[in-house]
Amino acid sequence: MQAVLDFLKQNESRFVNELCDYVRFPSISAQPQHRDDMTACAKWVVKRCQQIGLHVELCPTKGHPIVLAKTPRRVGAVRPHFLVYGHYDVQPPEPFELWKTPPFEPRIEGRSLFARGASDNKGQNLAHLAAVEAYFKTGTELPCDLTFIIEGEEEIGSANLATFLKERQAELKCDAVVISDTGMPAKGCPALTYALRGIAAFELTLHGPARDLHSGIFGGTVDNPAMALCQLMAQLRDKDGRVAIPGFYDDVQPLSDYEREQFKRLPLTDAQYQALVGVPELFGERGYTPFEQRSARPTLEINGLTSGYQGEGSKTIVPSWARVKITTRLVPNQSPAKIIHLVTEHLKKLCPPTVRMELQSGHGAEPYLVSPTSPQAQAALRALKSAFGNDPILMREGGSIPIVNDFKKILGVDTLLLGLALPDDNAHSPNEKFDLDCFAGGQLMAAHLWQELSKV
Ligand code: BES
Ligand code: MN
Repeated sequence: MQAVLDFLKQNESRFVNELCDYVRFPSISAQPQHRDDMTACAKWVVKRCQQIGLHVELCPTKGHPIVLAKTPRRVGAVRPHFLVYGHYDVQPPEPFELWKTPPFEPRIEGRSLFARGASDNKGQNLAHLAAVEAYFKTGTELPCDLTFIIEGEEEIGSANLATFLKERQAELKCDAVVISDTGMPAKGCPALTYALRGIAAFELTLHGPARDLHSGIFGGTVDNPAMALCQLMAQLRDKDGRVAIPGFYDDVQPLSDYEREQFKRLPLTDAQYQALVGVPELFGERGYTPFEQRSARPTLEINGLTSGYQGEGSKTIVPSWARVKITTRLVPNQSPAKIIHLVTEHLKKLCPPTVRMELQSGHGAEPYLVSPTSPQAQAALRALKSAFGNDPILMREGGSIPIVNDFKKILGVDTLLLGLALPDDNAHSPNEKFDLDCFAGGQLMAAHLWQELSKV
């Protein structure tokens, strides 16, 4: 085992260079013009896996391809089998002008590697590949079989992955799934995440006049879709930060006193949190701490809002339409289907007759919650401690990883969420970065993990 750890140390700068190559691909799953970049990125992952000595397949789907890579199986040996999941797709990098250097040209400053996807999720899945390479190149026997699934549609809801899991159910039968695609509360403070929020996405368009109209000639006689949309949106939350949709909170499982006590041990203060997000004052559901609000309470957010003239100077029109992109984040035991229904019915009721409403529901994912006391979770905690030197904490996260519930439903196994991202990594924001100490620590964690997990 020491040889594995030494190998990781000795090859640190090569792994950083590889991450630089990986993040150069603009693998933006949401934008059709990047289809070829998606395939090129997937092929790069395939090549990297081959170099390590994994058996690799590039599996086409109706959307972007999936990379499936396996450690060579030993005939006749029955060993534990773990699945490692990650994604090579990234969020759109816009707005470009806020990036200090271009999003797909990696820049290293101190211990930070800046690029879209560096933290979410390329750096994190590469850490796992590095650990396996270290086992192979040092001739150290892995105590288990491993299968990597690195997909290209996580950031758009993983619509084609469940079908893939069903088709390959037999070969993917495993003892647990491991994912590094969440965070840790601070550098050197590792975490095991035992809950994720779910999500339900919508796009709402209000249609007004048949075309943009001169606002001097016609303004005052027709409803303005942008104004109507603002009025509609304003009714969706109250002054206490609660979502004002009847029934929205009905299925929410209240937080236990025990969990609320645990959350108080997290290292970030409210003031530090406020500085991190850069707001004049924090705002959230009254009666909950920011940590609770962002991980264990449901929300409804506008993600994008557009209507009328967006160019320079002014243009005096009544816009023909207005559109908003919305997502709700869900906690146990809310269901995306039920929430979509509640939101739709409520919006229909609120919509004035002066505009026509068009509502499109998008991706959805259920919330996830798993016991942090299982033997596997304990094994993961030991691996985290060996790698980072400190006792890991248990936490909930507010983000979503759509496929985790399908791993449970289709393969019948739990997922261990062992994240390497820091709160200031700027995931989904301009100037995303990955901390190189988290990268190195993640590699050590992955190396220890297979020893620990294979014992239980
Ligand atoms: N890595 C994130 C999920 C995440 C981030 C979990 C931080 C916990 C903490 C993942 O890549 C992600 O961003 N998922 C999307 C999914 C959605 C587009 C369906 C999300 O949560 O917005
Ligand atoms: Mn993401």
